[in-house]
Amino acid sequence: MNIQERDKIAVWHPFTQMKTAPLPIAIVKGEGAYFFDDKGKRYIDGIASWWVNIHGHSHPYLAKKISEQLITLEHAIFSGFTHEPAVQLAERLLKRLPGNQSKIFYSDNGSTAVEVALKMAFQYWSNKDIPKTKVIAFENAYHGDTFGGMSVGARNAFNMPFSKLLFDVITIPVPVKGKENVCLEAMKSTLLNNDISSFIFEPIVQGAGGMIMYQAEVLDQLIEQCRNKNVITIADEVMTGFGRTGKFFACDHLKHQPDIFCMSKGLTGGVMALGATSCSEFIYEAFLSDDKMKTFFHGHSYTANATACSAAIASMDLFDKPETFENIERIITEHKQFAETIRSHKALIEVRQSGTILAFEVKTQEKTHYLNSLAEYISEFFIELGIILRPLGNVIYILPPYCISNDDLQYVYKAVKEFLDDVNRE
Ligand SMILES: Cc1ncc(COP(=O)(O)O)c(C=O)c1O
Repeated sequence: MNIQERDKIAVWHPFTQMKTAPLPIAIVKGEGAYFFDDKGKRYIDGIASWWVNIHGHSHPYLAKKISEQLITLEHAIFSGFTHEPAVQLAERLLKRLPGNQSKIFYSDNGSTAVEVALKMAFQYWSNKDIPKTKVIAFENAYHGDTFGGMSVGARNAFNMPFSKLLFDVITIPVPVKGKENVCLEAMKSTLLNNDISSFIFEPIVQGAGGMIMYQAEVLDQLIEQCRNKNVITIADEVMTGFGRTGKFFACDHLKHQPDIFCMSKGLTGGVMALGATSCSEFIYEAFLSDDKMKTFFHGHSYTANATACSAAIASMDLFDKPETFENIERIITEHKQFAETIRSHKALIEVRQSGTILAFEVKTQEKTHYLNSLAEYISEFFIELGIILRPLGNVIYILPPYCISNDDLQYVYKAVKEFLDDVNRE
């Protein structure tokens, strides 16, 4: 039996209707921006493997650093113990984060980084004996698949079976172009309630919601409003962090900095599972007490896994080299040029760009965004051409590893144009 047949017998895949889904492609090798399948076909990884990959697949420097760590200390319990990779990574993240961030709390993926942030915010108020339990979130948000993450995310087909089990959240409109004032007003009236604990948001780009983009200036005003009302602000940088929007963090586009940051995905260069939640000193201090009940009782077996931390440190080393941001700038310029040539295409509703993320919203008859039938057709079209572009419903987007070459970008753009021409002819 080949890998796919064995997979069919033993494995259950994420976000996949196992009854009807075609057999998965068996990847046997990764190199730079490419994957190779078991039949030797090459694919350009146009979406950085669910937005995680930064410097390219099977990067020799990351591999070397990780293997050195593996034979020194692979993992250790992190309650009552510590190690160099966890401490060094925290120090280096704090150097990159805005000055108001003072501590790093580790977990092991994006959803848990969010879960930790929400629990920190809830318990902050509980420790102070102030009854603030409500959360504000944007409509159309995605913050992960755990119950806390689903609760603060948009209610849709993906979490419908659990809808009655999710906690109540106050949603405000996303401040996309033309909706800025509606959003600011909604925030203002919501903040008249005295029981708001926190406001969580994906800064300037909502990823899973369809690469919806909005301006940093409005977010600045929203954060300022929250600050004036003592509401904790949480930036979910799980997707936007590590250069995606053109700056190290999306919040680097802001003047006002949030109180908590959630990080994962690109944190390890896309090599290993790791989550990190940073917070401001005032939050940390609310947990310092002689009363044991004020402790932050949260942790995971693999919290601060030493090997994952070493991968993240190695990725930070590569970020310190000028090439990484030169590549980011190069991708931004290429994207901009292509966006201009395609903007008025008849098959498109809109082209959006934020840094290295370029999104194309395709016209469609169907109202549903997530389960849009166009999605499967789009995936197949690009796979045929050796490109992995897994759309979000009718939104095609390119979010590449930063090592992708200009030739490969041009090949992907050409394929996008062909796809749009095809759709337009139908
Ligand atoms: C903004 C945001 N937050 C949280 C998550 C959840 O991360 P993970 O899939 O690692 O649990 C995602 C994943 O796509 C995300 O985009």
